[in-house]
Amino acid sequence: MMTAEGAPAKPETFLVLGATGGTGTHFLRLALAEGHPVRALVRDPARLTVADPLLTVHQGSLPEVPGLNALLAGVDAVAVMVGDAAAQRRGPVTAPFVHALVPAMRRHGVRRLLYQAGALSTSPDRRLPPKLWVIRNTMGGTYEGQHRDNEAVMRYLADEAHDIDWVVHRAGIGSDGPSRGVLSRSEDQYSVATFRDCAAYNYRALHDPGAIHTCDFTHYRSVR
Ligand SMILES: NC(=O)c1ccc[n+]([C@@H]2O[C@H](COP(=O)([O-])OP(=O)(O)OC[C@H]3O[C@@H](n4cnc5c(N)ncnc54)[C@H](OP(=O)(O)O)[C@@H]3O)[C@@H](O)[C@H]2O)c1
Repeated sequence: MMTAEGAPAKPETFLVLGATGGTGTHFLRLALAEGHPVRALVRDPARLTVADPLLTVHQGSLPEVPGLNALLAGVDAVAVMVGDAAAQRRGPVTAPFVHALVPAMRRHGVRRLLYQAGALSTSPDRRLPPKLWVIRNTMGGTYEGQHRDNEAVMRYLADEAHDIDWVVHRAGIGSDGPSRGVLSRSEDQYSVATFRDCAAYNYRALHDPGAIHTCDFTHYRSVR
């Protein structure tokens, strides 16, 4: 039996990073609404807008997460939807974390990982479409550190994590409005989506064998 979001109905335990963020909040609500236990690692628990008996909250900050092993015990899938453009301008945040996360996942037999990057981050095996290249290079340096961090994560996963069922979503996000439709994975087509729709895609992608080892964009086939 499958749920409305195309995921198995059997409860699975998720470890969610970025649960207070634009995408992570929606991901958290979705997983909890479908009856899945969630462990959320957050910098400041007071920023969480969700409370639920299935939610356990752990305080911590990337890249070094003390107790990562304990957090992964019994987890079925990990979702990383983290970004801090100011910190990532000073140095990588998510790449060193993912370098520690993947070996810890192996130790605990956790196979599935979703990482949300941005549409302006380049995937390891492809160039940015010219329009996105222009946008990235006219934005100044604001998000450059974040793109480099995301790109280092993608390179590491592609080169060194073949045994993990990872998916990278190179999301385009424009608003926190209502759903505008269902996002589909694409190598070359991208939409400027809502946080809600990106979270729903991330959730589905964790259960989509076809998405494994991809660093794709997403787009709306039809927009509401
Ligand atoms: N926003 C966009 O327009 C956009 C567009 C495309 C792609 N993306 C990508 O999507 C990813 C997530 O973006 P988002 O917009 O959904 O998130 P967001 O709203 O910017 O929130 C970021 C989340 O990451 C958490 N975080 C940041 N630094 C952390 C650290 N050192 N340790 C632990 N948690 C940390 C934040 O926690 P706090 O609540 O403590 O700050 C928050 O939960 C990023 O990789 C970004 O590149 C974003």
